[in-house]
Amino acid sequence: EKITISVLKADIGSLVGNSTIPEIFEETASDILDRYKGEKIFDYFVSHVGDDLNLILLHNKGENNREIHEIAFEIFKKNSEIAKEMNLYGAGGDLIKKEFTGSLIGMGPGVAEMEFTLRSPESIIVFAADKTESGAFNYPLFQMFANPFNTPGLVIDPDMRPGFRFEVWDLYNHKRIYLNSPEEIYDLLLLVGTSERFAIKRVYPRSDKYPKDEPVAVSSTERLYEEAGKYAGKDDPVMIVRAQKGFPAVGEILEAFSFPYMVNGWMRGSYWGPLLPVSLKNARATRFDGPPRVIALGFQVKKDKLYGPEDMFDDPAFDYTRNKALEIADYIRRHGPFEPHRVSYEDLLTTTAKPILDKLIQRFEDIK
Ligand code: 13P
Ligand code: 13P
Ligand code: MG
Ligand code: MG
Ligand code: MG
Repeated sequence: EKITISVLKADIGSLVGNSTIPEIFEETASDILDRYKGEKIFDYFVSHVGDDLNLILLHNKGENNREIHEIAFEIFKKNSEIAKEMNLYGAGGDLIKKEFTGSLIGMGPGVAEMEFTLRSPESIIVFAADKTESGAFNYPLFQMFANPFNTPGLVIDPDMRPGFRFEVWDLYNHKRIYLNSPEEIYDLLLLVGTSERFAIKRVYPRSDKYPKDEPVAVSSTERLYEEAGKYAGKDDPVMIVRAQKGFPAVGEILEAFSFPYMVNGWMRGSYWGPLLPVSLKNARATRFDGPPRVIALGFQVKKDKLYGPEDMFDDPAFDYTRNKALEIADYIRRHGPFEPHRVSYEDLLTTTAKPILDKLIQRFEDIK
């Protein structure tokens, strides 16, 4: 029996500045979703990280389904109106297109969805990050599914030994490539090390035990810059990962976030900084509009019910990572407007600096 998990997210207004969202956004979302529960959707959970509202929906309508996306659109639109009413920052911001035409893809919001045959038992973790970009999940996805030092299951679980297949998107040219782990990990790393351009979209099992076309992980890869044609905030991605029984254990999935690796997208979408794993109560941006944060919500999934969430990073086991991240944040911040804190010149062209740079470049004269 197949089910679908859809995680749909948008920044449609925030307080204070780009810090967080008002409670009414989640209440409005829940009110609307209650209307559809038992009919178009089986179950849901509403959450947020920083200024991004996340809808986690369980249904059986498949990926990129018009009815499901329309429900999310209704929620984002209603909250945009509330945001305008409240004079919030960036009201309606991520809803670049105002009329729904069948899919949220290309309209501004981020989308991560997977349809799969429900296993018994089935555990998933939903990740959502703020002040960063799609490729921010490249590092942990590689760790979870390709690095035995993170995931010893790759060595000792017979169903994991065939490895995993990675679907990588070139976000600049809207093309994709499939690479097999372990035999092609050097090629994989050559690409996904450039997280601004190459993002791991999906990971598939290679074991004969599971359908090879049903993903074990999927992330959102929408780029606001492309969709808006100018800087419109950061993409702030979401990701779904399935756990256990031939897939990484829950602990192997979380372990990938135990190192506060650097991500692109802090302050004005123009700075690199360490990714801080946080509990829901700390899911709001403060210092320098960050540091970039990620939450992890664990669910046990039945065909028509989500049991959870467990707030997986709400644990002292991640205090060391958080303290390290804060130390790194302080170190990198001293670079001010210099690289590698500030993003590369090429990347700066997707921020508000573009028109300034375009003019400045005109002023250069030849050196005789
Ligand atoms: P339990 O014995 O607590 O079920 O642990 C299983 C395990 O090793 C998970 O990694
Ligand atoms: P958001 O994409 O989260 O709105 O971030 C804007 C920003 O960079 C604030 O400094
Ligand atoms: Mg914002
Ligand atoms: Mg955001
Ligand atoms: Mg954003």
